[in-house]
Amino acid sequence: MKKWLISLAVFSSIVVIVLLDPSPDRESQAEENSIVLGEKVYTEFCVDCHGENGKGEGAQIGTALNNQHFLSTFSNQDIYKIIEDGKKQTLMPGFDVLEAEEIDAVVSFIRNWQKDRLDLEAPSVIEGNVTNGKKLYNLYCITCHGETGSGTLTKAAAIANPTTLENMTAEQMWITAAYGREETRMGPSLKGLEGVRQLEEQEISDVITYIRRDLVDRYNPAESKHSTHAIVE
Ligand code: HEC
Ligand code: HEC
Repeated sequence: MKKWLISLAVFSSIVVIVLLDPSPDRESQAEENSIVLGEKVYTEFCVDCHGENGKGEGAQIGTALNNQHFLSTFSNQDIYKIIEDGKKQTLMPGFDVLEAEEIDAVVSFIRNWQKDRLDLEAPSVIEGNVTNGKKLYNLYCITCHGETGSGTLTKAAAIANPTTLENMTAEQMWITAAYGREETRMGPSLKGLEGVRQLEEQEISDVITYIRRDLVDRYNPAESKHSTHAIVE
């Protein structure tokens, strides 16, 4: 075989290898870089409230971000939106000062805490009875989440907060109410799981419908002004 033919053969096989190789190394390198940048952003802007390992044990009050239930319910895009918008009238500020690349990076950093992909299912239609939902909320949720849904006790999230509701679907709320968030005070509510509350699927839908349709109009952060949780503007 002529020398140039051999070189051509060698060259083309290299080309083929390069083209076929999806280059996981390069991809994981980019991911790695993003996590490193994300850690920097997190340390500068988030650690005071959400704690070093995302457990929500910062000096101030933030919820748990390393939580496997939380991470299995919210996509990267969802988390991006929450960081960008924040939650108005709570301690969670909006971070529109950050570049898109920095928010992406901090999302990768948070996603890196995910160890499990829990299979959490919600009914395909979440539609319930507001009156019954109110009754159940007052029995099972009000002690922590408050009369106006602003989260009266430390760390019980402001569930009727209008920006929370914009950035959390009924399905994501249903899943959180049903399965809870492990290792936080938010225990599961679905009958059959190991929670103090034992609610039927439809009852959970009733509560969610009440929060989204009625309680939201009464959201009042002044209710939790004695906790460090909500900011009264
Ligand atoms: C001053 C305190 C504070 C700082 C700083 C802060 N957070 Fe928060 N964050 C909170 C609080 C409080 C909540 C819960 C608000 C609520 O729903 O009542 C929260 C909620 C969140 C949520 C939603 C979690 C859930 O369970 O729905 C995400 C995601 C989040 N923060 C990410 C971040 C990131 C990323 C940063 C840094 C770029 C950050 N936060 C900085 C206080 C803070
Ligand atoms: C014992 C206190 C307690 C009770 C009772 C309770 N919760 Fe919670 N809930 C919490 C805490 C604490 C969190 C934040 C957990 C975290 O760190 O992620 C939370 C978070 C949530 C969230 C997620 C909010 C967000 O912004 O991510 C939803 C939805 C929720 N609770 C719904 C309910 C419903 C519905 C009920 C009643 C059926 C209920 N909770 C009862 C303590 C409680």
